[in-house]
Amino acid sequence: MDAQVTPRPGAAPAAAPRYPITLRINGQETRLEIEAWVSLLDLLREHLHLTGSKKGCDQGQCGACTVLVDGKRINSCLTLAVMQNGRDITTIEGLAEGDTLHPLQQAFIDHDAFQCGYCTPGQICSAVGLMNEGEARNADQVRELMSGNVCRCGAYPQIVGAVTQVMNIPAVVETTDRSVVVGTVPV
Ligand code: FES
Ligand code: FES
Repeated sequence: MDAQVTPRPGAAPAAAPRYPITLRINGQETRLEIEAWVSLLDLLREHLHLTGSKKGCDQGQCGACTVLVDGKRINSCLTLAVMQNGRDITTIEGLAEGDTLHPLQQAFIDHDAFQCGYCTPGQICSAVGLMNEGEARNADQVRELMSGNVCRCGAYPQIVGAVTQVMNIPAVVETTDRSVVVGTVPV
């Protein structure tokens, strides 16, 4: 029968177990010991001080924490760091090549695709993942496939402009039935 052990008053609580993991973060192999409940986002921000990835909602609703795991975009607040053992993680800090910005970073600047900038690292990492997926063919598909990345400042037109430019796809969706385009006057 299991006996309930009552800690002595004043006794230090038992240390939580930590688990060894190895991650390749922005090209650098990183060995850590971490508690099982630590999210990948908290590992990056609180333990490794890679604060480019932002914590907006901490529950998978805003996309501010988007990073790339083996080239695929994920919400880093929704995964435990221990689950990513052995994976290749890329954050916004790992996209530039030395002093040369990633084309998406440069395009966001050129298009003025941010205001407060809080969503921007997640938007850019998500756009890199979108390009890796190769599914988006026009601006509408960019909007749809990046709908998990919320911008409270409403910089969506500029974000879509930046992403479509780098992807070299149409920034405006052609339509043959102009009567169904809300807000336009058919000609
Ligand atoms: S902080 Fe991860 S989705 Fe909002
Ligand atoms: S630029 Fe402010 S939330 Fe997107």
